Amino acid sequence: MSNPIIADNKPKKVTLEKDKKYMFCACGRSNNQPFCDGSHAGTGFSPKSFVAKEDGHAFLCQCKHTDDAPYCDGTHSQFDKDQVGTEGPG
Ligand code: FES
Repeated sequence: MSNPIIADNKPKKVTLEKDKKYMFCACGRSNNQPFCDGSHAGTGFSPKSFVAKEDGHAFLCQCKHTDDAPYCDGTHSQFDKDQVGTEGPG
């Protein structure tokens, strides 16, 4: 399995509904970021399902390197704009 694609070097602000289940894109290849669209097929990655704990906004990771998936933990600050769409450094 290779590294995930850096879909963007910033999180995406989304509106979540309490108790609703979502599928977070882990491979970085989805065209429906930050959510899964099935593009992980054949990559060895699987989407991460999660249930929103409350109604409201959340910042979900698009660099795919957070240690707190699906949420942004600030790790994206290490990626430059020109690394977007790539697997980044090793
Ligand atoms: S977008 Fe991935 S850690 Fe912020």
